[in-house]
Amino acid sequence: MRKPFIAGNWKMNKTAVEAADLASKLKESVGDFKDADILICPPYTSLAAAQEAIKDSVIDLGAQNMHWEGQGAFTGEISSVMLKDVGAKFVIIGHSERRKYFSETNEKVNKKIKAAISAGLLPIVCIGETLEQREKGQEKEVIENQLKEGFDSLSEEDLEKITVAYEPVWAIGTGKTATGQQAEQMHSFIRNWVRENFSDQTAEKIRLLYGGSVKPVNIKELISNENIDGALVGGASLKVQNFTEIIKNSV
Ligand code: 13P
Repeated sequence: MRKPFIAGNWKMNKTAVEAADLASKLKESVGDFKDADILICPPYTSLAAAQEAIKDSVIDLGAQNMHWEGQGAFTGEISSVMLKDVGAKFVIIGHSERRKYFSETNEKVNKKIKAAISAGLLPIVCIGETLEQREKGQEKEVIENQLKEGFDSLSEEDLEKITVAYEPVWAIGTGKTATGQQAEQMHSFIRNWVRENFSDQTAEKIRLLYGGSVKPVNIKELISNENIDGALVGGASLKVQNFTEIIKNSV
């Protein structure tokens, strides 16, 4: 049985003071709820403040991106080593906004996954098709390619550290959620891909999150599907009450 996993991607929101406030209110609101794993991913500049605010709580800390090199002349970048140092346990890799606005390719995603794992971070790897690709019936092909190239030369052991987030681009920030059935279809496709390319055991263990307009009202339907193990939540993770309800409705 896979434990539900609810992760909040705060995107480019919250100053350090605001992040500390949101994180400490969330800590209070979830109390010692342990039936789901809970994660928040604030922007880089708020990681330390958020970490301080969630100390001794059931909430974990994650970042939204990283560079694949450990250090060096990469102006403006942040490494896995730095994220570990600030207390991050997870890192989101390959979010569609990074792919769309910052030229993140499957090849870069692959390098980042490897660097994250070797630094001891747990990657949450985002994949998903655009509306245009879905309308052309290419969604499975796109996902398969993202998996094939993104997971290139990873070992079975690496896969055990990875969470996959299926986020159809057309459902992000649009209020349009994929139906439980649409999401389940893709999740089952992803799990089968892992089964075929790695093993039964890894396929059964790996957690697959859905992302795209997840709210307190739709999480139950989504997570009732066999292959949906949780959610990567954007907008609704910025509101303590909404995020808490999503967490509690996930079990
Ligand atoms: P929304 O929940 O705001 O649609 O964002 C989803 C997302 O991109 C999470 O990474």
